[in-house]
Amino acid sequence: MSIRQEDALSTTLPDGCADRVYCAYGVKTLDPGQLPALVAEVGRLLRPGGVAGFVGVASPPTRLLRHSYFCYLRSIVPQLGRILTGKMNQWGMLPGYVQRFGDFTTLGALFQSAGFGVRHRHLFFGTATALLVTKP
Ligand SMILES: C[S@@+](CC[C@H](N)C(=O)[O-])C[C@H]1O[C@@H](n2cnc3c(N)ncnc32)[C@H](O)[C@@H]1O
Repeated sequence: MSIRQEDALSTTLPDGCADRVYCAYGVKTLDPGQLPALVAEVGRLLRPGGVAGFVGVASPPTRLLRHSYFCYLRSIVPQLGRILTGKMNQWGMLPGYVQRFGDFTTLGALFQSAGFGVRHRHLFFGTATALLVTKP
């Protein structure tokens, strides 16, 4: 295995080189305007029949859970982050990112328009979400 540091929206990897593409917690910080480039790059990298999996934090569907979850993101996560990493700022941005991101509806629709098979999964009572796309 080799580790590369590149722009995920425009890599130097060859066309059709991948059976699988994974992305964990990387979509919520992208601009909505960058999503078409992500779809194009994943589509370029995957072989026909290849699958890409995305996982992200999500805004839970019920009010009670959403309230508790955002309290956890606002108060406990920054404290844990500060204790574990010594840094504070980046953890404080998480609730804003999660609220803006919502879920993978937009990204899933873009993959569907591009001809991919699309499946959504709600994880951990809706506090996380997964998108699986299959290249035809
Ligand atoms: C929320 S962090 C998640 C990092 C990691 N996947 C994790 O779970 O800890 C999102 C990361 O994506 C990186 N990123 C944003 N745009 C990118 C791009 N176009 N290409 C590669 N990385 C990018 C950011 O620098 C940031 O480190």
